[in-house]
Amino acid sequence: MKIELLEEQKMLQEMVRRFAQEVVQPKAREIDESGEFPMEFFKEAAELGLAGVAVPEEYGGSGMDTIAYCLAIEEISAACASSGVILSVNNSLVCDPILKFGTEAQKKELLTPLASGEQLGCFALTEPGAGSDAGAIRTTAVRDGDDYILNGNKVFITNGTHADVAIVFATTDIEAKHRGMVAFVVDMNSPGFERGGHEYKLGVNASGTTELSFTDLRVPASRRLGEEGEGFKVAMATLDGGRIGISAQAVGIARGAFEEARSYAQEREQFGRPISRFQAIQFYLADMSTEIDAARYLTWKAAWTKDQGKRYSLEAAQAKLYSSQMAQRVTNLALQIHGGYGYTKEYNVERYFRDARITEIYEGTSEVQKMVIARSVLQG
Ligand code: CAA
Repeated sequence: MKIELLEEQKMLQEMVRRFAQEVVQPKAREIDESGEFPMEFFKEAAELGLAGVAVPEEYGGSGMDTIAYCLAIEEISAACASSGVILSVNNSLVCDPILKFGTEAQKKELLTPLASGEQLGCFALTEPGAGSDAGAIRTTAVRDGDDYILNGNKVFITNGTHADVAIVFATTDIEAKHRGMVAFVVDMNSPGFERGGHEYKLGVNASGTTELSFTDLRVPASRRLGEEGEGFKVAMATLDGGRIGISAQAVGIARGAFEEARSYAQEREQFGRPISRFQAIQFYLADMSTEIDAARYLTWKAAWTKDQGKRYSLEAAQAKLYSSQMAQRVTNLALQIHGGYGYTKEYNVERYFRDARITEIYEGTSEVQKMVIARSVLQG
């Protein structure tokens, strides 16, 4: 077994790190405070090939693998978690299902503009009454000739304020629960489509979270992703990949907070010496760096399993569960090392602390990850 990044992965990592530090980090605090969606960032990231890192070049992507994708999300999230999730959603939750479930014609027409960043995508599954219980959605799809007619509401949609395209999940038969679900690629300029305002949140405040509603919205049947009744599987398989991205995001947030805390500990003097000379602080830093590495390796293992073409639901859930919980502990310690200053807006740690929280909630709560893990380990 060899754990070493390939040359092209290292080059990508360095390139994204530079971009994150020079372009993304300087605006992170400002967009967190204003909530302004960083569309300029998305376009610049797309120019670097980050809108579809693991999408083959023939469909507008960079043709790299899932480990490379994780490296990119970690670097961006270490600078700005909002920017990290914007990219993660476009890559994992939008490009990936079209790549996996789309027909050749759909890949050519729909995937190319998304993977090249000409368009931005969002993933519309969650509804007011269907969060963890994703099979309980009530948005309906009724076949009418060559179209389907959609009616319903979605909530907490990342990128929703600015996306051009949405992967929308609906049901043709509410009674059939998850077996009635169907997925579509919906143009967000269609008549009958409405988006809500910007949702202010505890963290990742610039990620364009909003509500979406569909009123007699017509979608051509040619925009259906997979077959009728396959929507739940499309959603679950897509979220397996999404969870790897959120795991990488959690590693990035934790690393960002760790780096701030390490610098602070070396500069801040109390009792006549830098606080990094006290064993209490050293032990915090030791625990933090160990946990970040452990989470990163779990993330890479899930990414590697995906790239082998094997089922990776277990590995993705384990990575997301551990990384997101790790990010709470690490950002908490980073804030503690900063003392009273860490509690102010003057330092970045309070932002990392707030941003870490969502990684235990979106793309499946920690409790949902435990359900997935438990079912898998009990099957043996
Ligand atoms: N891949 C393929 N098929 C899968 C699958 C997977 N990963 N997981 C389940 N399935 C299949 C099962 O085999 C089963 O198939 P059959 O009907 O043929 O038997 C079917 O789907 C139903 O599976 P379950 O019985 O396991 O379904 P469940 O109702 O018990 O739900 C769950 C399981 C894990 C709780 C699931 O509902 C879940 O993951 N919920 C969380 C939803 C979620 O993550 N939402 C995030 C929203 S998006 C978001 O957050 C984006 C953002 O903002 C950034």
